[in-house]
Amino acid sequence: MYIATSKTSYSSGAHQQHNSHPENLSKVRDLLDRIAGGWHSRAQVKQDELELRYDAECVDFRADLLPFKNHPIYLGLADETQRQILSCGWLAYNEKTVAIETSIVSPACIDILDEKIPGLKNETTKQIICETLVDEAYHILLVKNANRVTREQRGLQYVHIPTFNLVHFMEAEKAKHAEIWKRQLVQLATCVVSEIFVSDYLHLLSEDKTIQPLNRETVAAHRHDELAHSQIFKSLVKCFYGAMNKEQRSFFAKILPCPILWFADLELDVWHRMLVQLRVNGVAEMIKDCRFLNQQGLERVNFNGITALASEVGMLDDEVCRRNFIDRGLMIN
Ligand SMILES: [Fe+2]
Ligand SMILES: [Fe+2]
Repeated sequence: MYIATSKTSYSSGAHQQHNSHPENLSKVRDLLDRIAGGWHSRAQVKQDELELRYDAECVDFRADLLPFKNHPIYLGLADETQRQILSCGWLAYNEKTVAIETSIVSPACIDILDEKIPGLKNETTKQIICETLVDEAYHILLVKNANRVTREQRGLQYVHIPTFNLVHFMEAEKAKHAEIWKRQLVQLATCVVSEIFVSDYLHLLSEDKTIQPLNRETVAAHRHDELAHSQIFKSLVKCFYGAMNKEQRSFFAKILPCPILWFADLELDVWHRMLVQLRVNGVAEMIKDCRFLNQQGLERVNFNGITALASEVGMLDDEVCRRNFIDRGLMIN
């Protein structure tokens, strides 16, 4: 699901021309113009719908994405139970996608449309955000269709999937702040990280020939849009970071590393709940044994795109921001 990464050292960019420089900003705006103009031919919502053909012989998910894949309790389960667990893995993977679209990305997009974010009040931005909202609504339809078929085919209609830690953690951070602008920037930072990470999240399954073809095609269609979204949100950061005041900039820079770790969380409570519903024996012990893996979250995500972006916009020129990235293990000194 994730690509291992290495920490990079970024020099303080006092000598660099950052993206908030007017010349660079106009290049960023040109890029956004081109991406907005290409939406009609690029967007998956404009293409033919996927055929919902299902091959019951194929597994629904990759075993190597299970956090407990090497645990003796999992390895000792009957084949049929392991296949059901893989189907639950697919259901949860899709529900996490829905949570990202509905609880993280869409509210941030609406804040942008409502002109709550400095530097993003122009018409091109509004057009691209409207297109992105249409894309995300289509992704919800794609994955909800896939989950409905999977639940019917595998008899898993009864499985309830609780709220993901990614959303819990973001909401808990927002609740710490009385100021609305701070809560909006927590939402925006989580959205930016999610939109940059989600293509990696989708990458492995989008090319996997061993899983259910419908699942692969669903993920591939979604990823096609997300590759554009990653560019869009990187460009939007370049537009708004320089337009914020000093207090907003330092708050955004302080928060930005947090969603990287939230995204890397293994969602073991969701797994616990699903496996209890499947009546798997030894669930509590297996999940408890896997908790330590959440300490190694940074090894599971490729955060180079975020640190490079932070460097490009000049975030790392500020010693406090820079120290924040180093202290969280995202950079070396
Ligand atoms: Fe999406
Ligand atoms: Fe997206």
